[in-house]
Amino acid sequence: MTNEQYYELIVPYQDALNLLMARLDVLNHSIYSTDVPKPIHNIQFRIKKKQSIENKLERKGMNGSFTAAKENLRDIAGIRVICYFVRDVEQLVDNLKGQRDLIVIQERNYIKTPKSNGYRSYHIILGIPVYYMERTEYYPVEVQIRTISMDFWASMEHRVCYKQERRGKQEIQAMLKQYAELLGEMEKGFERLNNEEIERFADGKG
Ligand code: GTP
Ligand code: MG
Repeated sequence: MTNEQYYELIVPYQDALNLLMARLDVLNHSIYSTDVPKPIHNIQFRIKKKQSIENKLERKGMNGSFTAAKENLRDIAGIRVICYFVRDVEQLVDNLKGQRDLIVIQERNYIKTPKSNGYRSYHIILGIPVYYMERTEYYPVEVQIRTISMDFWASMEHRVCYKQERRGKQEIQAMLKQYAELLGEMEKGFERLNNEEIERFADGKG
């Protein structure tokens, strides 16, 4: 793939990403009250770099062409939404799935079923309609929705295991899993505190 082809390839993915970012922004504020806490802590996004696209295609045993990328990769556009609580993640997912013009291409709930290493996150690949003058096309955007605590674990795991062979070490595996459990407990604790706070507020004692 030449540089020109890469820049041509990513244009519609960038458009799809922008459109979905606007919808997430809308979901992050209430039109009824400024008192309602926002569900989203922060959002990260990226368009896959040319080199990463080529590396991933090579890993899959394919050539690194424009067509191969378009036909085989669904994470050229990626958004990571970091929420405060698991409940925020669930509500966001339900809402996105209820937006009828979006297509759910793939869903992986690693919150309900964590990966064996302890990784937790909710992944959904959405097909976003992009309306051009000539036609409408759907482009995939990979959305990872997780809590601050899940993001902390995933970022650290990625950082300390970037040399893949460390992932296999048993003591490291056990440590990561234990940390995932501890973080899960802390997250539940904070969620309990938050629920109490909401009740207090509802009782007018806040
Ligand atoms: P990829 O080929 O990497 O796209 O994986 P996949 O097609 O099997 O999809 P999956 O939904 O399992 O993972 C997609 C993305 O989730 C990855 O690119 C990572 O960003 C993230 N992810 C998945 N598993 C892990 C993990 O064990 N640790 C960390 N830190 N991130 C993970
Ligand atoms: Mg993927």
